[in-house]
Amino acid sequence: MTEPTTAAAFATRPDTAPVDRPGADPADRPGEGTDESAGAARGSGRRGSPRWWRRPWVGPLAVVSLAFLAFSLPPYLSLDPSLSRVPPVEGFAAYYPLLVAHILFGTVAMVACGLQVWPWFRRRHPVAHRIIGRVYVLGGVLPAGVLGLVIGAVSPFGPVARVSNVILAALWLAFTVAGFRMARQRRFVDHRRWMIRSFALTMSIITNRIWGGIAAVILIPQLDTSFGGSDVALTQAISGLATWLGWTTSLLAAEWWLERGEAAKRRRRTSPAARRTTPA
Ligand code: HEM
Repeated sequence: MTEPTTAAAFATRPDTAPVDRPGADPADRPGEGTDESAGAARGSGRRGSPRWWRRPWVGPLAVVSLAFLAFSLPPYLSLDPSLSRVPPVEGFAAYYPLLVAHILFGTVAMVACGLQVWPWFRRRHPVAHRIIGRVYVLGGVLPAGVLGLVIGAVSPFGPVARVSNVILAALWLAFTVAGFRMARQRRFVDHRRWMIRSFALTMSIITNRIWGGIAAVILIPQLDTSFGGSDVALTQAISGLATWLGWTTSLLAAEWWLERGEAAKRRRRTSPAARRTTPA
């Protein structure tokens, strides 16, 4: 494959139009032409090379992702079902191996995704961006998402969690495939938008755990009142809240982030200065 398939490939080739159609907007390069990149470029004095402090989320994101993996992976790397934090599903012997496979592919997706959204890495290593992009899709999200669909549909945490898991897995697969196809078609504005949504869902496994902790703190004292002393009802309520809130809030945050960039672009286009310089 000699043709670049992601915008990053163009980041070092400014003479190459990033989309097929004529008059392509510079915003068709991911991270460029956006409010974020404009601010960053102003901060650096050099377009496309923002100062690290303009990206204050990169470091915390890496720390949180690595902390999540360091906490979540070890019990499953032992391949000992008795160490699993998820109870077994009766009558489904393949559940545990599928869960472990899901976790391993999910780890690939999370690590790859962290690198892909790091603007400095995208700009400095466009070839790696292309390769890791394929690893993210083909070696991470696709297998982890299909396995998530299967184990999600039979989740031992009850019907509310099952419905959430299946919808989340389906959206994760759909957004990621859409983002991949957009890159292949060199439609980089759309590629960026779908991959930001895909990223939000990948990382939603972390917000899931945060919501689970909050729900546990609030609901455990209500075991005997709201849940009639039933541990099963309490566990299902905590899991159901965690999984629904985990991905819906992440996705809302992603939509807000995207809309924020669009609104800034609209403001720039309609500002008096822009109108003065636009020929009639
Ligand atoms: C975004 C789509 C995802 C879906 C739909 C999904 C689905 C599931 C399901 C159904 C389970 C079994 C527990 C349950 O029934 O609730 C599970 C467990 C697990 N998943 Fe995922 N998952 C996703 C993403 C990820 C990612 C990106 C990772 C990163 C490593 C991951 C790591 C884990 C871990 C570690 C467990 C075991 C539970 C624990 O020990 O806390 N998942 N997932």
